[in-house]
Amino acid sequence: MEEIRLEPPPELNMNIGQAMFSQRAIRRLKPDPISDANLKIILDAASKAPNGGNWQPGRFLVIRDREKIRAFGELYREAWWCKRRDEKHSWTTREEIPDADKVHQSAALLADEIKDAPVIILVFAIRPRMASSVFPPIQNMLLAARSLGIGSTLTSLHPQIMERVYAMFAIPADAEFHACLPLGYPRGRFGPTSRLSTGDTTHWDRWDNPPPWK
Ligand SMILES: Cc1cc2nc3c(=O)[nH]c(=O)nc-3n(C[C@H](O)[C@H](O)[C@H](O)COP(=O)(O)O)c2cc1C
Repeated sequence: MEEIRLEPPPELNMNIGQAMFSQRAIRRLKPDPISDANLKIILDAASKAPNGGNWQPGRFLVIRDREKIRAFGELYREAWWCKRRDEKHSWTTREEIPDADKVHQSAALLADEIKDAPVIILVFAIRPRMASSVFPPIQNMLLAARSLGIGSTLTSLHPQIMERVYAMFAIPADAEFHACLPLGYPRGRFGPTSRLSTGDTTHWDRWDNPPPWK
């Protein structure tokens, strides 16, 4: 294995707290292109993440070809609605999703618009059962993108479309798909996000003990 010691790219100069606390799902994307230099920074950030045994099973398929993104977008949309069917939702169109359900509203919009995203990165592991070794690299990509002012969302696909996705991009059968990241400059704003308080999600020494800040 060739060992690559990368100096941190000077472009990744956002304070780590600011990046973490404002990174959020950006689903409304501008079609403006993302440079190869910025994509390399994002992938270099992925390469530096923790992973089991330093086996580095993560593999990243960067899709930039407009026609391919358009064709993939059709499959993504089909997958998104398959997942709603699996969840036993009765909706079959975006208009039927309740206004109050902001996450599904926004995710459905992405399902319609992902075909216009400037870049999509599909994330795989080339060893079985190593999902936990590709999610730290994914998080590094999301944070690096945030620092560069590029938005993204961690998304999944659905078994119904996977054979067609593998055929579309000549992906070997032993590469296990784990995530799909559409990337683009945001039409909206980054953060803040709304999350449970750590007082409610943290246990201190024993499960029935709250942390001191609760
Ligand atoms: C494992 C995982 C799968 C996700 N799948 C999807 C998805 O398929 N489509 C989508 O639009 N968002 C997806 N998301 C994004 C979540 O909906 C988002 O992170 C969450 O709602 C918090 O959003 P916020 O950071 O904007 O507050 C996924 C996130 C994770 C961690």
